[in-house]
Amino acid sequence: ELPFAENYRIKMVEPIYRSTREERENWIRKADYNLFNLRSEQVYIDLLTDSGTGAMSDRQWAAVMTGDESYAGSSSFFNLKDRVEQLFGFEYMLPVHQGRAAENVLFSVLVKEGNIVPGNSHFDTTKGHIEFRKAKAVDCTIDEAFDTTIDHPFKGNIDLEKLQLVLETYPKDQIPMIIVTVTCNTSGGQPVSMQNMRDVKQLADAYGIPVIFDSARFAENAWFIKQREEGYADKTIKEIVREMYSYADGMTMSSKKDGIVNIGGLLAMHRKDWFDQATVYNIMYEGFLTYGGMAGRDMNALAVGLDEATEAEYLEARISQVHYLGNKLIEAGVPVQRPLGGHAVFVDARRFLPAVPQEEYIAQTLAVELYLEAGVRGVEVGTLLADRDPETHENRYPGNEFLRLAIPRRTYTNNHMDVVAAGLINLFERRDTIRRGFKIEHEAPIMRHFTVGLKKV
Ligand code: F0G
Repeated sequence: ELPFAENYRIKMVEPIYRSTREERENWIRKADYNLFNLRSEQVYIDLLTDSGTGAMSDRQWAAVMTGDESYAGSSSFFNLKDRVEQLFGFEYMLPVHQGRAAENVLFSVLVKEGNIVPGNSHFDTTKGHIEFRKAKAVDCTIDEAFDTTIDHPFKGNIDLEKLQLVLETYPKDQIPMIIVTVTCNTSGGQPVSMQNMRDVKQLADAYGIPVIFDSARFAENAWFIKQREEGYADKTIKEIVREMYSYADGMTMSSKKDGIVNIGGLLAMHRKDWFDQATVYNIMYEGFLTYGGMAGRDMNALAVGLDEATEAEYLEARISQVHYLGNKLIEAGVPVQRPLGGHAVFVDARRFLPAVPQEEYIAQTLAVELYLEAGVRGVEVGTLLADRDPETHENRYPGNEFLRLAIPRRTYTNNHMDVVAAGLINLFERRDTIRRGFKIEHEAPIMRHFTVGLKKV
């Protein structure tokens, strides 16, 4: 059999600069050891995020040229609305400027002070929008997700017993929704099984609680179901997506991931009463109902991107690149979240750098070292991101200290992945020499990781 290759070829390229270690030492010091403060030219291979960083296809660029910029009722809006209805089955849709905006609009309708919102390791903006409303996010992810050495095919799954306990403990009117994040970013880009979605929906129905899917990487989740779950191997991705969303009452989406556009988001639902209330917030925060913070051309490109992202050939190329990098690291003994996820490789920094104390930000230490070593920018998903407890103001130490290497869609080649792997393996070989981390110089009261300033201990 012939090997598998990408289902596209490259039509346009963007030069990138390979800097020296000396240059990088200077730049990262001036950036207060916060990788978000670097200029992009100071980064050789940028794995900070897979959000908004993918390459659009020629079909998407062609759709950009036919975007309709009418304030109201543009054809681009209807292209997007029709695609959303065809893929997910929701008849009501509002465009917004990105995923957190969809959370802001929907949660303005649904979440009240004192509410409880169970889910599978809510993403940080999702949690932020819940806590900002003085409500509480309760993590009901299965325990296996927090042990990087356990190989479980669906580490994004919700633990039904944990969920049931929440549903029994609090009155119905205090639980506005259950949020299922597909794939679960925080636990390592890990998928949720179809069976789990079905079970969560059944349990939710029994208690009369709606289910919302955070849908940033819904197509990658569908790919894992096709690969790993019995009965789905011969189904198309679009058929799998349709079944997934039959277990949801609504969705929020950051379109910057599996939508393969640089900016955009949406919310969609069956219930007209939610939609009617959401339109008010959409108009206040985002824009008129038929553009909501997106240009017509971007809605057009998104309508095409959603179609391309739900093709099996694309997903195979996409996810096999993530696994190409992950498997190289595994072969060298580098500790990573197992099994490998959909959009990123999550390096287990605690096992990589056991000598660095927890209070000195282990994953951030590894992220800075990798930048110095190879010019590669990853991102900390650890104590800096977990932030402080809103009540006690103490650091919250999360289940895992990860260095996330998120791979933009259709952007880098496997040669770039070879450089990333070699850099990290070099560090792994001299990991005993890395013993101290950082302390905080200044930090913001919420979402501190973006702007925090650090000093070497
Ligand atoms: N939900 C999930 C699961 C996400 O991963 C993100 C963003 C959002 C919501 C918010 O969407 O950025 O468009 O406002 N994740 C990016 C990341 C930032 O790097 O993982 P947004």
